[in-house]
Amino acid sequence: MNKNFLALLFLFLLNQTNAQQTTSVASAPMGWMSWNFFGDKINEKDLKEMADALISSGMKDAGYNFIFIDDGWQGGRDNKNNMIADPVKFPSGIKALAKYMHDRGLKLGIYSDAAQLTCAGYTASLGFEEQDARTFASWDIDYLKYDYCHAPADSNTAKVRYKAMGDALKKSGRKIIFGICEWGERKPWHWAANAGGDLWRTTFDIRDKWKNLTTNKNALGILDILDINAELSKYSGPGKWNDADMLVAGLYGKKGPSGDEGGVGCTDTEYQSQFSLWAMMNSPLYATNDLRNMNTATKSILLNKEMIAINQDALGNQAVRTVNDSIWNVFVKPLANGDMAIALLNRSEHTASYQLNAKDLGLAGNYSWYSLWEHKISSKGKKWKGIVQPHETKVFRLKKIK
Ligand code: GLA
Repeated sequence: MNKNFLALLFLFLLNQTNAQQTTSVASAPMGWMSWNFFGDKINEKDLKEMADALISSGMKDAGYNFIFIDDGWQGGRDNKNNMIADPVKFPSGIKALAKYMHDRGLKLGIYSDAAQLTCAGYTASLGFEEQDARTFASWDIDYLKYDYCHAPADSNTAKVRYKAMGDALKKSGRKIIFGICEWGERKPWHWAANAGGDLWRTTFDIRDKWKNLTTNKNALGILDILDINAELSKYSGPGKWNDADMLVAGLYGKKGPSGDEGGVGCTDTEYQSQFSLWAMMNSPLYATNDLRNMNTATKSILLNKEMIAINQDALGNQAVRTVNDSIWNVFVKPLANGDMAIALLNRSEHTASYQLNAKDLGLAGNYSWYSLWEHKISSKGKKWKGIVQPHETKVFRLKKIK
């Protein structure tokens, strides 16, 4: 065979491999994650129904293109140590479920843990990283959430264990987005991208509540997670997202993981705030409510396409918190087309009025202030002034007026 041809072929293949390995996740993943609603009581029928509801509700068209299977799918290993799905919960197997999703233009995420057991006590991947990555690839999995229960607390072990799976996924022959989930305990924003992570959880699990009223650090509400994640904006960007955990919109205090630790439920205003703030911070948007039975309020939150556009904006800048006092938070997020997204949160228990000034936001000139929840321009010029309800977040898209 001609030597030049072989050399060209080699270069071509090398390029392909590099292209595959360096493809970053251009915007934060979106979809529906099974944990908050089902806990580990998942099965293929319910997950298919959620996929169908994702489509019929219009959520898929709005950008939610993943079904993420969380903990509880595992049925141990076979006699060759290949991971298998629980045959009662998933009688058709995970590959068939992935096909179901792909046939409908959706993707499928799966879950494991960097120890011998997962958080809920199922078979996990330590020591089987390459074999499990190959299994996930052979099932056509598109995303792996990789948890850290039952693993040693130190950072070095975490880096080694995450990199082992990150490398294994790269070798698997399939682009599988790698979601690192060690709850921010070892500051993964400093090292998770090197371990192959496309995103990383920054906090312990969210509960379905506005804020933690205890000292239990595993009982976080929306505001607690906001206060951690908001400080990490400089670490986030395309292919390296801060993951502020699941959305709780529409759960209304449902018993189960998000209802534990005082998760009594939130008001729709609070759910709307979480959605707005997570969108501003480029967190992945994982809905977790029962999509088959959604009320109008939940739908109008999850399906706010203008808000989703802020989250998915091509520039990939996480909003910066420019005001942070006991009442007010202001967030500023530049957008790819030159517009600016501004969020204003009233953290207090009282209705209050506030004036946003363009110059305080670093903006010269006049702007139209389009309100993303009222769906109309609510001010023109150098300022916006208005009333904000307790726990409400107003979001504006500012466009310069010539
Ligand atoms: C941990 C994670 C959760 C969920 C459960 C599953 O708590 O942080 O998001 O995946 O494990 O057991």
